[in-house]
Amino acid sequence: MPTAIHRALWDEVQSPLFWDDGRVVLLDQRRLPLEEVWLAYDDADGVAGAIREMVVRGAPAIGCAAAMGLAASARSALPDDVGRFRAGFSALCERMARARPTAVNLMWAVARQQRVAEAALASGGVAEARHLLEREALAITREDLEACRVMGRHGAELIPEGAGVLTHCNAGALATAGYGTALGVIRAAVAAGKRLRVFADETRPYLQGARLTAWELQRDGIDVTLICDNMAADLMRRGEIQCCVVGADRVTRNGDVANKIGTYGVAVLAHHHELPFYVAAPRSTIDLTLTSGEQIPIEERPADEVTHVGSVRIAPEHVKVRYPAFDVTPARLIRALVTEAGVALPPEVASIQALFA
Ligand code: MRU
Repeated sequence: MPTAIHRALWDEVQSPLFWDDGRVVLLDQRRLPLEEVWLAYDDADGVAGAIREMVVRGAPAIGCAAAMGLAASARSALPDDVGRFRAGFSALCERMARARPTAVNLMWAVARQQRVAEAALASGGVAEARHLLEREALAITREDLEACRVMGRHGAELIPEGAGVLTHCNAGALATAGYGTALGVIRAAVAAGKRLRVFADETRPYLQGARLTAWELQRDGIDVTLICDNMAADLMRRGEIQCCVVGADRVTRNGDVANKIGTYGVAVLAHHHELPFYVAAPRSTIDLTLTSGEQIPIEERPADEVTHVGSVRIAPEHVKVRYPAFDVTPARLIRALVTEAGVALPPEVASIQALFA
């Protein structure tokens, strides 16, 4: 069981997670915007549960949390014997990687920790592995924050002065180590002096837009207007939106993008209204092993997130429900993919490969 910390730390840390001397402290995003509660975990299975239950969410943030969770267990729960440490660590990694299926940052961070543990066990033993796993978790987190800031600067150039910018879900500081991917682009454009009006899709059914994006941008003093998902088309037709910026959970070699359910619909609408649709994501979200979006595993979440809003039932009992939590936007609908290594414009095999050159 995690320990709850009822303290307003957000303004100080500007991140949904931090490492506290062997504990992983996560902002409980299920309770936002009504209350700010932090939960401290001291083992990997606890953190895997927090990822599954959406205490922490957003592709880069769950990668950082997973890396920290593995470091926490290595420090306090795994035995000193090399063979037993290796077996225990490998089982933890396997369970952690399965916590959620779509965001590849999770598997990417787990694989990175697995490599660190293997190398350390081969050279310096368990003490070395514990030390290096902690160092790597902090490096993954620091690198993500830096990637968001750089990505923000690249992406800001694409956003016109005075634009209405539509975003979907929450791809902000709350979804990363801090600053955000799509919201990082918006933050950087605002910091560069552009006056923007951000429209946040509420993002049914889990309401990341209403609960998280609205909260986060409002706290930063950025002009944000909350809309229901079904209002975007009308606002585009009225000329109130000039571009769309979203994040990603997995990008394939050809530039297809999995992101929160509803993203594909926004991209289709943008295409119809001849508006640019941008995706911002770090390279840790790009999965070069998959050739197209059809191969991305899509998470199906529990039906009660659709039949209920919070704890209030809004649909009849026993009604059949479909709930794919992500959809895939084909590369041809995406004007540019913004990363920390530059902009793939348009996103396609060659421009994406060039980001790794
Ligand atoms: O189910 P969630 O809230 O984890 O989904 C998050 C998203 O779809 C985000 O847009 C994506 O992870 C990018 S976060 C920078």
